Amino acid sequence: MKPLVDPFGRAITYLRVSVTDRCDLRCIYCMSERMRFLPRAELLTIEELDRLCSAFVRRGVRRLRFTGGEPLVRRGFLDLLNLVKRHLNAGLDEITVTTNGVQLADFAEPLFAAGVRRVNVSIDSLDRDTFKHIARRDCLPQVLAGIDAAERAGLKIKINTVALKRDNAHEIPDLIKWAHGRGFDMTLIETMPLGEIDEDRTDQFLSLTSVREDMASYWRLTDLPDRTGGPARYVRVEETGGRLGFITPLSHNFCEACSRVRLTCTGKLYLCLGHETSVDLRETLRAEANDTRLDAILDDAMTLRPKGHDFQVERLRTPATVRHMSVTGG
Ligand code: 5AD
Ligand code: SF4
Repeated sequence: MKPLVDPFGRAITYLRVSVTDRCDLRCIYCMSERMRFLPRAELLTIEELDRLCSAFVRRGVRRLRFTGGEPLVRRGFLDLLNLVKRHLNAGLDEITVTTNGVQLADFAEPLFAAGVRRVNVSIDSLDRDTFKHIARRDCLPQVLAGIDAAERAGLKIKINTVALKRDNAHEIPDLIKWAHGRGFDMTLIETMPLGEIDEDRTDQFLSLTSVREDMASYWRLTDLPDRTGGPARYVRVEETGGRLGFITPLSHNFCEACSRVRLTCTGKLYLCLGHETSVDLRETLRAEANDTRLDAILDDAMTLRPKGHDFQVERLRTPATVRHMSVTGG
């Protein structure tokens, strides 16, 4: 089958799939406390999700990442993984999951059994009160137990931390030392203006360029050439021996080599995290038993892929998109 290539010559080899918009946390930079979730009928079924993933693999996608919301709260999620698993070593190189870790203690072993070898766990503080403030739920102990269980199950772990000026800036070096001390890669993420939340994002925006400069005053940071098909730029922290990534959508644009597209839990395909341009796949999926029409729609979708996003620090106050990260997946 013809691979999916956008007008700028970028091949689509990576698909992020949000399996639910629901979550068992309410992180302040992501959601409002009184977040309204989609009615269940809007969601793609497990079978539909499998059919779409399979179509993308046939068209050249080599890596699948499942996200949410929180993927582990989606009923049937393991069934989906166990279906998609058949593509491993048959076009698909890897299946990964991004989770908040709350239910990971129960899921670590089944995830491994379903072919997952790497998980990204989001954790924004190691202090129970700070965690509770940021996530609006007192779940740090569960997350840490989840990380332990994942390690025991043989999953490779990467830690994701959103850098927040007020709430965790002072703690970032300790988080890095902890993650690297346990042998985990770590990635820092700038807050992105996605969806309405309860507070003003400008208050919490922390430029990772300045975090990095600061760090370079007490640590030796060596640039690494590593690219993971994604936006992170990596350094080695010589003192900890660990790898540290920076995702800096606002202070540095990362679109040139972007190989990824995103599928929402309702079957909308987003060609770029920072643009509203999307194509609905659900209707076609439900109307047509074979994939001919779906393939044609994917080809058309490629022509709509923008060159890049244009998030701007000055415009953080108003979201660049109405949809939340929990709808499209991070
Ligand atoms: N800006 C930056 N990161 C976000 N995440 C969720 N919403 C946002 C946002 N608005 C993060 C989560 C998780 C990753 C998938 O995305 O904390 O680490
Ligand atoms: Fe849930 Fe992730 Fe959003 Fe936090 S950032 S509320 S864990 S989806």
